[in-house]
Amino acid sequence: TDELVKQADGDLYRQLLAQLNTRADENGSTSDMDRLIDMRRQLTEFQLHYKFGMDEVLTKINVLREEFEHTREYSPIEHVNYRLKPLERILEKVQRYGSDPTLEGIRSAIRDIAGVRVTTSFVSDAYWVAEMLSSQPDIQVVEVKDYIHSPKPNGYRSLHLILQVPVFLSNRTEFVFVEAQIRTVAMDFWASLEHKIYYTYQGEVPEDIHHDLRDAADQANALDQQMAEIRDRVTGLSKQDTS
Ligand code: GTP
Ligand code: MG
Repeated sequence: TDELVKQADGDLYRQLLAQLNTRADENGSTSDMDRLIDMRRQLTEFQLHYKFGMDEVLTKINVLREEFEHTREYSPIEHVNYRLKPLERILEKVQRYGSDPTLEGIRSAIRDIAGVRVTTSFVSDAYWVAEMLSSQPDIQVVEVKDYIHSPKPNGYRSLHLILQVPVFLSNRTEFVFVEAQIRTVAMDFWASLEHKIYYTYQGEVPEDIHHDLRDAADQANALDQQMAEIRDRVTGLSKQDTS
């Protein structure tokens, strides 16, 4: 929480004062300092709700993971990462989308404030994890983007779910969006490298690099397929052994 508050400090507040509607009244009786304090409180509360929603999804993923490790000695989940989008980046996106620069507007338009990334062993595991999360009664799947089935033109592959989860507060229930990106180790390896390269060139990736990245994406895809074939052969073998 301290980190969130720190992130939100400084010049950003002055910027926000101009951009965001605050609940503080505008009749002159409220000083700038009071409005700043009120805004700080509202923003921290806003971000906390996303942290709570993200924590819920993380708990769900950890339950699956531990259950699998306990009962089957095998978990489809390799690792889990998560992040909250910093306020600066939220505001950039608000400007890019031209959406309403109020907390209410941000709440409905920006759906990746809370993000969870699950890395799986096999492609089938990615769909399996997605299915296990989607079928939970308190999770609402708002959108599915299947870039595994339909990769992006640059070769990006990943399964994206926009989830909506209830956050039970002291006096009300709030529903927040959590973006889940589910992909194999090979897809993740490619994506993290591509991301760095994209930033190095500030989005203007030269044609030869672009081409080679596409090629690398094909190889990552081939690796995923090869691994699945090996797994099938091995599990076929172990079935024969026990029968
Ligand atoms: P954003 O405005 O970036 O959130 O994209 P979007 O709303 O069109 O959603 P999309 O599902 O396409 O992408 C969401 C997130 O997936 C991004 O913020 C990245 O984290 C990741 N992502 C999407 N495309 C790429 C890509 O080409 N390369 C990499 N490395 N990551 C990507
Ligand atoms: Mg995003």
